[in-house]
Amino acid sequence: MKYVIGIDIGTSGTKTVLFDENGKAVASATVEYPMYQPKNGYAEQDPDDWYNASISTAKTVIEKSGINSGDIVGIGLSGQMHGLVMLDEDGRVIRKSIIWCDQRTAAEVEEMNRKIGREKLIEITANPALTGWTAAKILWVKNNEPENYAKCRHILLPKDYIRYKLTGEFATEVSDASGMQLLDVPNRCWSEEVCDVLGIDMSMLAKVYESCEVTGKVTKEAAALTGLKEGTIVVGGAGDNAAAAVGTGVVSDGKAFTTIGTSGVVFAHTSSISIDPKGRVHTCCAAVPGCWHIMGVTQGAGLSLKWFRDNFCQAEKDTAKGMGIDEYVLMNKEVENVPIGSNRLIYLPYLMGERTPHLDPNARGMFFGLSAMHTKYDMMRAVMEGVSYSLRDCVEICREMGINVSDMMACGGGGKSPIWRQMLADLYGCPVKTAASSEGPALGVAILAMVGAGIYESVPKACEKIIAIDKVQQPIDENIPVYEKYFRLYDEIYPAVKEKCAKLAEM
Ligand code: XUL
Repeated sequence: MKYVIGIDIGTSGTKTVLFDENGKAVASATVEYPMYQPKNGYAEQDPDDWYNASISTAKTVIEKSGINSGDIVGIGLSGQMHGLVMLDEDGRVIRKSIIWCDQRTAAEVEEMNRKIGREKLIEITANPALTGWTAAKILWVKNNEPENYAKCRHILLPKDYIRYKLTGEFATEVSDASGMQLLDVPNRCWSEEVCDVLGIDMSMLAKVYESCEVTGKVTKEAAALTGLKEGTIVVGGAGDNAAAAVGTGVVSDGKAFTTIGTSGVVFAHTSSISIDPKGRVHTCCAAVPGCWHIMGVTQGAGLSLKWFRDNFCQAEKDTAKGMGIDEYVLMNKEVENVPIGSNRLIYLPYLMGERTPHLDPNARGMFFGLSAMHTKYDMMRAVMEGVSYSLRDCVEICREMGINVSDMMACGGGGKSPIWRQMLADLYGCPVKTAASSEGPALGVAILAMVGAGIYESVPKACEKIIAIDKVQQPIDENIPVYEKYFRLYDEIYPAVKEKCAKLAEM
């Protein structure tokens, strides 16, 4: 039997899973780390936290499994997208990474639109200038920290920094590179034109591979730290969403998934490139060679419920601890007792600004309709419903673009919640399924590693063999019109307060 390892460098922590060649998880380990928010709208992480977590989790899974490192034939890396890692000429990190949910770059987005033109940018990079994406962050450092920019020799994404530390190679792959806004997405290569106009030296960018290609081999030093065998291959891997697509079998037309992690994503596969001229959803290269995906993103999905838990649910935390269960399981039980619509309470999940459909870094969260009769439990359900409405917004746009989203998988921490999946099924009007393996991104990049190591001939063939469906939530007919009414009202709220959010941001 051969084995592979998937390392997923997430926002709340790094999860590493060792799989056998049939996709069965043999051992897993997670290490968490902080996110720094030095100012409202800022979000940073320390790349060395990711590195230490990757090394220690890799070491743990190898030790736990007792598997001979010679039988581990490949490694795949998945990671939070868009984060900016800058290295100096000695390969040292210059400043903390400005990560995907950071919203400081409004001025740089304007600069990109002015210099390149919104339409031209969409034509080349398949996406409008976005505050959270890497190019705007690079310009922000250039404009605000020239001393750091002057030292910069290499620009990497979070998972690609881990690749550099494991293999010594400066490499990336098409799915994650799509989120830098410097890639010619239709042609799957760096755009000389965009880099030139923005004044970004292309020699700082990593070499671009397809996601299942071999990008390098584990060095002697990394082998000594992890217990991996020197020379083990590391494939391109994928941005966390493209990785989750492979890990849930979303690798052919008609298939889609929703993930509720820190952010929430609706992701649909397509074998022909399709771009939203309004730029409300992203188009990126898929981890399947020659394919793309459409992706709508809710910035504060699981983040909203975590925020609510951390600020208002100490009692749930204590009780769950006493019962030896997960506090979210307890919160789900509480939410079941609240009717659809949360007793006329609507939550807007824009705690970190919003991408789909508003593309507005100044958007902020709110509870609409709060009254003295409401309890914490109404608010808890409203948070889950608000996130679901926001994900329905993403599905609406995909359908508008003619993309079929009738075969929906659910994943991420929130995807584990049956009540959250039921909300999605009722709001999407289609069945929402889970995969038998809940390892999503880690399994996805492990599958890419299996393809890179020659165990399977292609990504779709590997998925056919490995991915199995577990639970299916069918939409409940009588719930649909009730949710529909609330969703329509939800959609009217933000446009009515958009200008006020901008004013608030200026204060
Ligand atoms: C996708 C996005 C997030 C991050 C964090 O565009 O920003 O999904 O990848 O997980």
